[in-house]
Amino acid sequence: MYTNERMRHMLFTPITFRNVTLKNRVVMPPMCMYSAADDGMVTDWHVTHYATRAVGQVGLIIVEATGVEPRGRISNRDLGIWDDAHISGFKRVVEQVHAQGGKIGIQLAHAGRKSEVVNSTPVAPSAIAFNEEYSLPTALTVQEIQAVVQKFAQGAKRAVAAGFDIIEIHAAHGYLINEFLSPLTNIREDEYGGSIENRVRFLQEVLIAVRNVIPAEMPIIVRVSADDYHEDGNTPEIVAAMLNLVKHHGIDIINVSSGAVIPVMPRAYPGYQVAMALVIKEITQLPVLAGGLITEPAQVLQLVKAGIDLVYTGRELLRNPYWPLQAAHLLQQDVAWPEAYLRGKW
Ligand SMILES: Cc1cc2nc3c(=O)[nH]c(=O)nc-3n(C[C@H](O)[C@H](O)[C@H](O)COP(=O)(O)O)c2cc1C
Repeated sequence: MYTNERMRHMLFTPITFRNVTLKNRVVMPPMCMYSAADDGMVTDWHVTHYATRAVGQVGLIIVEATGVEPRGRISNRDLGIWDDAHISGFKRVVEQVHAQGGKIGIQLAHAGRKSEVVNSTPVAPSAIAFNEEYSLPTALTVQEIQAVVQKFAQGAKRAVAAGFDIIEIHAAHGYLINEFLSPLTNIREDEYGGSIENRVRFLQEVLIAVRNVIPAEMPIIVRVSADDYHEDGNTPEIVAAMLNLVKHHGIDIINVSSGAVIPVMPRAYPGYQVAMALVIKEITQLPVLAGGLITEPAQVLQLVKAGIDLVYTGRELLRNPYWPLQAAHLLQQDVAWPEAYLRGKW
């Protein structure tokens, strides 16, 4: 199963994006911990949680969806980055990850119509609720859209101040940016709705604003839902066409996920999003980060062999924070262990 020496080696070969070199291809994707208080501040839980995966030698850790404004949180327990007071908590997380030689990004997010923050009215491109259990959102005016763009830029500036290596813009899972991208959630008749050029405009403005406030050598990841799983919705080809319109503003990696724009569940199996990621890679010529139900080193190798540049493994890393060390052992790769754990090395 693990016979291809070059592939085995590749998984643990460093890879560089702008000035950020990751020590391997294993990525922890953003996963909400719902462990902040209502103020969006980092807690000890976050420091322990992220630092532990860095001890496990995850190449890139992406901090969970972090609200660029209070009404942009999914829940009242989300992390936030709408205030300078948030910076010091993130600094603690970043320092602990860097101390282990890991790299760390943050997912800047706005929940749009899927925000369930109490006593707050969600906003969206159009006034359409996710389903009957969710609140009816208010459609943003053009002026309000501009204000949200600035919230992303301010969040990015704070992320730089906290020492993050990479910014991820959350344009997936039916949250605000994705709501603009999808024709199922965006029925605007102004310059933000209709054609793909119009639907991608909000993402484009966020990208430009974020690029403007971060160092030129800092990579940007955009996470997309490649498929809406609806005949009138986005497909990998359509999403790739939209990315092609904006990639020159400085996208370095596309993080490929799918669905959650409307309440339908796809049939999921290990690697079910790989084909979509390869379509996006082929059309955009950008590196892709892909995954979904990946638990075995052999599966990661298959993805890398297929042309996937980086592989995320989320829930497996919740179960086993030392998964990369275990994978290296199974693949007979000699990776560096934290010195304090050397007595436990296989
Ligand atoms: C507890 C949990 C929280 C998640 N939160 C986020 C999030 O904040 N942002 C995001 O883009 N995806 C989020 N996801 C999706 C994961 O990033 C990932 O795409 C998904 O779990 C599939 O990968 P896996 O099968 O390896 O877990 C979350 C998933 C889980 C399990």
